[in-house]
Amino acid sequence: MQNFDYQTPTRLIFGKGVVEELPQVMSGFGKKILLTYGGGSIKKIGLYDKVKELLSGYEIYELSDIKPNPKYDPSVLDGVRMCKENEVDVILSVGGGSVLDCSKAIAAGAKYDGDPWDLISYKVKAKDALPIVDIITLAATGSEYDMGGVISRTETNDKIGYMDPLLYPVVSFLDPTYTFSVSKKQTAAGCADAMNHIMEQYFCEDSTILNDGFMEAGLKSLMINARKCLENPDDYTARAEMMLTCTYGCNGIYSLGNSYTGWPCHGMEHALSAYYDITHGEGLAIITPRWMKHILSEKTVERFVKYGVNVFGIDASLDKFEIAERAIEATYKFFESINIPMHLKDVGIDESRIDEMAKHVADNEGLENAWAPLMQKDIAEIFRASL
Ligand code: NZQ
Ligand code: ZN
Repeated sequence: MQNFDYQTPTRLIFGKGVVEELPQVMSGFGKKILLTYGGGSIKKIGLYDKVKELLSGYEIYELSDIKPNPKYDPSVLDGVRMCKENEVDVILSVGGGSVLDCSKAIAAGAKYDGDPWDLISYKVKAKDALPIVDIITLAATGSEYDMGGVISRTETNDKIGYMDPLLYPVVSFLDPTYTFSVSKKQTAAGCADAMNHIMEQYFCEDSTILNDGFMEAGLKSLMINARKCLENPDDYTARAEMMLTCTYGCNGIYSLGNSYTGWPCHGMEHALSAYYDITHGEGLAIITPRWMKHILSEKTVERFVKYGVNVFGIDASLDKFEIAERAIEATYKFFESINIPMHLKDVGIDESRIDEMAKHVADNEGLENAWAPLMQKDIAEIFRASL
């Protein structure tokens, strides 16, 4: 077991109707709020009106139209400018992971005098950030319980996971009823994203019985509940469990004490969504089984055996490589069964930029240090196998 230093300062307020507590929570931060949201889903589900009604005594500035794979320009830059011009006290993010990630970058940028990209690109370490409160409306990223925000910069094809303990939300509201309206496509993509967050922690050199059990339960919970949510979008119990399982996903709690993995599928997927603006969870679902096949070896096979037996119930008496291959096939089949497009060409990606993307990943993501190291050649092979 490895040493670790762990603290999550985020207060989670979970359940039906908890948003009623918003006025009391917001009262601790000051009167000026930057309300951030996306393309309108929060208006359709009545959450926008609810928030405005609950916070009627506040001075609210609005940054809307934050896109999936949130963009540095204009969203982060506009948000930073608004915070500075209006001396905003606190950011209230209402929406999915993209809105919250964008809000995190704004929170740090608002307290920095230079170009916010200095912070996102790790050229400068932030000294301070505005507090962030969020109402998360999509079960997927776990951004509501972690210190990361993923920001895209279109002109350089960069998609960077910007992490800093200053970016933990102070309070996250999780009301599963607000996820009833999430489309089948986004529900499935959210499930794939959260499953991959767990796999990125599971496939490593050094784990524990405790962490393996926690992660195997997380994977099973996601598969069972995603199916229920797809069949019946208003199933509160399924939406609720899926939400909490996703919330744990990126915060590190699933794998405290485990060895470094390098998060290779995320490193590769960042290039796909940076170059082609695809849905993150779909990109991950496509890459994951191909990555598994690529790294299966004498060194890695035992992890696949444990995964195959404990998550998919594959017969433990079979040959270890047979179990591993069945486990990879079961992973692929599950994603396919929830209607995720399973080829890059299905999401508009062809051969033309594969070498360029592979080089970008190799140059920027440090995957040569992953548990199963990936060089540019390996990354290109995984992309080609995913076509
Ligand atoms: O823009 P609106 O109108 O709000 O619609 C959104 C968007 O079109 C919609 N949506 C959100 N909540 C809804 C809803 N539709 C109906 N009902 C609701 N309740 O869903 C669409 C996708 O939203 P988005 O926020 O982009 O999805 P998600 O939460 O999956 O976030 C994806 C982003 O998070 C990053 C990804 O890279 C991607 O940019 N990630 C962030 C992580 C983190 N901070 O820890 C970790 C992840 O690995 C991930 O990389
Ligand atoms: Zn992810």
